[in-house]
Amino acid sequence: MKIAMVGSGYVGLVSGACFADFGHDVVCIDKDQSKIDLLHDGVMPIYEPGLDALVDSNVKSGRLTFTTDLAEGIKDAQAIFIAVGTPSRRGDGHADLTFVYEVAREIGESLSNDAVVVTKSTVPVGTGDEVERILADSGTAHQYAVVSNPEFLREGAAIRDFKQPDRIVIGAEDEFGRNVMREVYRPLFLNESPILFVNRRSSELIKYAANAFLATKITFINEMADLCEQVGANVQDVSRGIGMDNRIGPKFLDAGPGYGGSCFPKDTLALLKTAEDYESPVRIVEAVVAVNDSRKRAMGRKVIEALGGLDAARDKKVAMLGLTFKPNTDDMRDSPAIAVAQTLQDAGVDIAAYDPEGMEQAAPLMPGVTMCTNPYDAIEGADAVAIVTEWDAFRALDLGRVKQLAKAPILVDLRNIYQPDDVRAAGFEYTSIGRD
Ligand code: UDX
Repeated sequence: MKIAMVGSGYVGLVSGACFADFGHDVVCIDKDQSKIDLLHDGVMPIYEPGLDALVDSNVKSGRLTFTTDLAEGIKDAQAIFIAVGTPSRRGDGHADLTFVYEVAREIGESLSNDAVVVTKSTVPVGTGDEVERILADSGTAHQYAVVSNPEFLREGAAIRDFKQPDRIVIGAEDEFGRNVMREVYRPLFLNESPILFVNRRSSELIKYAANAFLATKITFINEMADLCEQVGANVQDVSRGIGMDNRIGPKFLDAGPGYGGSCFPKDTLALLKTAEDYESPVRIVEAVVAVNDSRKRAMGRKVIEALGGLDAARDKKVAMLGLTFKPNTDDMRDSPAIAVAQTLQDAGVDIAAYDPEGMEQAAPLMPGVTMCTNPYDAIEGADAVAIVTEWDAFRALDLGRVKQLAKAPILVDLRNIYQPDDVRAAGFEYTSIGRD
């Protein structure tokens, strides 16, 4: 089966490469010539473990190609995916659908065979209806169906998430759409990955509801962590204790500096906008967004406290370890590290930072922060060390060396990756999240 993937960003590229790996013929299309040039040269425009090898083998087998020419790329494709960005619109948080609609118009104008048009981009409820109207307005003589098929890929684990999904959600209004999508996902169907067929609006909402629910779970445990600190409880024990209840489940209960990334912040805001438009408030999600926003700066204040308060913090130096919103990505979007650094800088603190993959992306977002080539360079002469992202490389720091290099043995662990007793036994003043 031939598949066209319009948009070769994170979602488009991972999905396109995985579909090719299933045996489909895939053309990834992007209007950004430099991105397509990079891909032709075998260079990945994004960092995702395993993606380069997957792209390479499928390019070599001839099943995966790249082009900037949409009309040529969608020719003979039975499924045309729209996987372009839907950033938060400046000012109001609505998902910006300009790119989605632009692509839909181009598809309508270029369609040269019957095809299913699939929105994989995260789009608000009702977007599929508008895409359908755009295709109708194009006057195309070919049969088409518009289907919603949201992605649930986690950065850093995207290939596994694609190939072994908890579920595949398909929102289709007719048999033509459902049949083509069955064919697209047949390899996974045979693997017994559950495929859920629902109507298009339900599918569009499932994506937002899933992300909002996960953001809520994280925010809930973050507030419990604050409460733990006040009452002398341990948030990791509380997580385990509630997570063993099958109805709650153990995942997404790690307390930390607040969620970030390309999805949760943007999608929770967009859901609030939909709720507002339909006059059906989602107050829990409103609270989640507000709590998470204020948490990021609060984490900066936690580091300041560890330095001895605002007065003591001025002109001190902090080593920040980890800048990306989570490990195994170079993505800095809405990373808590940005707000932590700003709060520290507002208090007159100097920052030296290290991140295994994110420093290039971080540098323009964190002016005044000195980027170092390894953790120990950042730690040298620091008055405190703050672990902001739980990269594996920070899990087994040589604490003896840290103590020697740092000016003061103060460790603030915003991801709870160390055992308090071990770190204290090594002579550190240790602060973490939601535990003594
Ligand atoms: C998320 C969803 O998981 C994915 O299904 C969706 O398609 C896109 O958004 P991603 O943004 O890649 O994926 O990262 P994820 O692993 O979900 O983490 C999101 C944020 O939550 C990170 O900032 C992470 O540090 C934080 N988090 C996650 C916690 O603070 N605690 C947890 O227990 C889990």
